[in-house]
Amino acid sequence: MKSTVKDLALAPAGHAKIEWVTGRMPVLAQIRQRYLANRPLAGQRIAISLHLEAKTAVLAELLHQGGAEVAITSSNPLTAQDDVAAALSERGVIVHARCGVDAATFEQLHQKVLDLEPTLLIDDGGELTERLHGNRHPLAKGVRGGAEETTTGVTRLRALAASGRLRYPMIAVNDADMKHLFDNRYGTGQSTWDGIMRTTNLVVAGKVVVVAGYGWCGKGVAERARGLGAEVIVTEVDPVRANEALMDGHRVMPMLAAAPHGDFFVTVTGNRSVITTRHFERIKDGAILANAGHFDVEVDVQALAGLAVQEIPGRNPLVKGYRLPSGQTVWLLAEGRLVNLAAGDGHPTEIMDLTFGLQARALEDLLARERAPGVYPVPAEVDRWVAQTRLQALGLGIDQLTAEQAAYLSAF
Ligand code: ADE
Repeated sequence: MKSTVKDLALAPAGHAKIEWVTGRMPVLAQIRQRYLANRPLAGQRIAISLHLEAKTAVLAELLHQGGAEVAITSSNPLTAQDDVAAALSERGVIVHARCGVDAATFEQLHQKVLDLEPTLLIDDGGELTERLHGNRHPLAKGVRGGAEETTTGVTRLRALAASGRLRYPMIAVNDADMKHLFDNRYGTGQSTWDGIMRTTNLVVAGKVVVVAGYGWCGKGVAERARGLGAEVIVTEVDPVRANEALMDGHRVMPMLAAAPHGDFFVTVTGNRSVITTRHFERIKDGAILANAGHFDVEVDVQALAGLAVQEIPGRNPLVKGYRLPSGQTVWLLAEGRLVNLAAGDGHPTEIMDLTFGLQARALEDLLARERAPGVYPVPAEVDRWVAQTRLQALGLGIDQLTAEQAAYLSAF
């Protein structure tokens, strides 16, 4: 099958990006050794919808090295890196991905990936599963199972399973300890601020940052904002999480109250219309709006455009100003799409090594055990293997329980 990428001439830059991260992903390196020796994925056809940047390319190539045919697209219209896509297509992987596609092309690229007639899936946000339960449902019977990357995707899968419609087993990689404790918290924390800072070239110290949502991602974004010297306000709908934010030292209030105070707003709720008309009407002049949640529905961009009396080009194509009837201007980053990927390179390499180690091992586990359709956790031994492999790579030892300690813990 032929790839669809923007321009193969971009491949050298993509190879350089892939090389940079490959040597910094020791968990995937361990898996690679075994894959090259044993080819445990031989005969499998793996369809992937993940944000297509360099670390993702390492995962896709790894699965190919394990013996599988692999086809990949990007899980967001703005997050494919065209140089990486070109390079990956020269490494034995079928790539259907381009940056900046419209909704119809995004759909087409996903359909092309499904033309592989996959036996296994990796999904980020449920994009492949949505189609395998829609117009491509005849292919679902050939799917042995898949692995889901995000909180949003897992939430959607659970809804599908609860209604009795999920047609194959899916492993919730997001929920593994070695995923959400690191990727969601430290990954989103760092990559979101990286995206915002490189796009705006503004200082964070001394500013007020409003973080909407205090799940693992929100905790990371808030903590890193504090580390950069900002005062943090958290908005939440969950009273337990609101208490957590308060005791972590942040201010807590409803978005309507926070709107006039924020210099930066970051939405990470997984829900829609978190910042909408009634907030725009009160928002501080010059405020910067960014989203780090999976879908571009958290900042109500349509309402913003409808309210604005003028749209103003920003310092680069990822910054757009909206002048409101009040005379205030708010600046939206990356069209309200995932700022860490649409305006950055995604999470740091060492963190994606953990997540993608879990992804590869989850696929192997799907081949090793029969499962009925449903949503399953990553097996605990896989989580521990990733944790131990990372420590080993860092040259860090830890203590072992003595026999006496183990007996003490298991006695009543
Ligand atoms: N790189 C690839 N997939 C990613 C994700 N889901 N979040 C952040 N960075 C990524």
